[in-house]
Amino acid sequence: MKKYNVALIGTGFMGKAHSIATAVVPILFGAPVEIERKIIVDIDEELARDAAKQYGFAEYTTDWRDVINRPDVDIVDICTPNDTHAEIAIAAALAGKHVMCEKPMAMTVADAEKMQAAAQKTGVVTMVSYNYRHTPAIQMAKKLIDEGRIGKILSFRGYYLQDWGADPSTPLSWRFNKAKAGSGTLGDIGTHVIDAARLLVGEFASVNSIVKTFIAERPLPAGRFFGPAGQASSEKGQVDVDDAALTMIHFTNGVYGTIEVTRNAWGHHNQLGFEIHGTKGSIAFDYQRLNELRVAFADDPADTFGFRTIYSGPHQPFGDKLWPVAGMGQGYIDVKSIEWYNFLKAIAENAPASPNFDDGLQIERIAEAILNSGVSGNWEEIEQPAV
Ligand SMILES: NC(=O)c1ccc[n+]([C@@H]2O[C@H](COP(=O)([O-])OP(=O)(O)OC[C@H]3O[C@@H](n4cnc5c(N)ncnc54)[C@H](O)[C@@H]3O)[C@@H](O)[C@H]2O)c1
Repeated sequence: MKKYNVALIGTGFMGKAHSIATAVVPILFGAPVEIERKIIVDIDEELARDAAKQYGFAEYTTDWRDVINRPDVDIVDICTPNDTHAEIAIAAALAGKHVMCEKPMAMTVADAEKMQAAAQKTGVVTMVSYNYRHTPAIQMAKKLIDEGRIGKILSFRGYYLQDWGADPSTPLSWRFNKAKAGSGTLGDIGTHVIDAARLLVGEFASVNSIVKTFIAERPLPAGRFFGPAGQASSEKGQVDVDDAALTMIHFTNGVYGTIEVTRNAWGHHNQLGFEIHGTKGSIAFDYQRLNELRVAFADDPADTFGFRTIYSGPHQPFGDKLWPVAGMGQGYIDVKSIEWYNFLKAIAENAPASPNFDDGLQIERIAEAILNSGVSGNWEEIEQPAV
């Protein structure tokens, strides 16, 4: 079996998550292709050196350009801030490397188009890390929808609420900086809900949105950052991205929906969720209870009718590969491992992965339309994917 060597770029929050996922995927699922964690990259040499040791990579370097053209690198795994995704992904795809790219895929639709074109040119397998869609309970929701268990979908009500941005003293990390992040809450977490909505309901036709920045000034960060947290300095800087967005949606199949995203909702740490209402039932999911899918089926007996909870377990998508007993509990790393399994399976089968750069580009188009609507106040039409 051919061995695929992985070069991981960016050793922060996601670098750690991808490192664990690539380590455990062969144990959990029996990796469809053999992989080796070959080289890890960070612009900060100390972080790169420490991460190579802690995360189990054979080598490290400080410049991603060192790894892109190496003949012994087969997969490039992009875990850096958003402003670097396009340049690295285009170079990697043109060098014939398969690309896993953290979300959001790009800072602009134009960059996402260039990334998609580069991948199409060489035919490499791509995946954008909209990991939540791989959650077994969300895959179970998709199965129920595809089987017609809730009938024809009428409406989608999605949200992603966090609270780490609600404190004005939370420092101005790259996530609050348009030049580094492209957009704020919408690109950071809203795109995950857009991905779930596309997976479960269908394509967006048009959107009408309110977009807000509640806290326009924040302390600059002092020293290094890890994920969204970090130390504040006494100096302040301007926030130039969105804190929150509320969107109405027309889907192309006639379904209507809403999505609310904010990082300013005290008490909601990482609450991605949705309800989907159909002609024969409803489905509800909330990531803070990711092992549970709530369902109500219209044809249940009237005396016991109501929402009930299905617990994730071996009888559900991917559950058989995890733990043999229902209700053992799945977590973020399980989801990341399923994501990597799906990516490696696509490489083994030389088939498109999902969500890939085509999906990532479409999500960028939707996100851009939401931001444009926030300025114009109008319904914004969304360019549809090429068929
Ligand atoms: N899928 C998810 O659930 C999820 C969650 C968090 C973050 N993300 C995404 O992952 C990406 C990284 O976010 P994070 O939270 O890990 O960030 P982070 O700030 O924790 O880590 C980023 C790392 O990249 C390094 N870096 C920056 N520029 C670099 C470059 N040019 N070359 C090499 N290294 C570089 C930094 O030194 C840092 O160590 C972002 O695109 C973010 O949106 C996704």
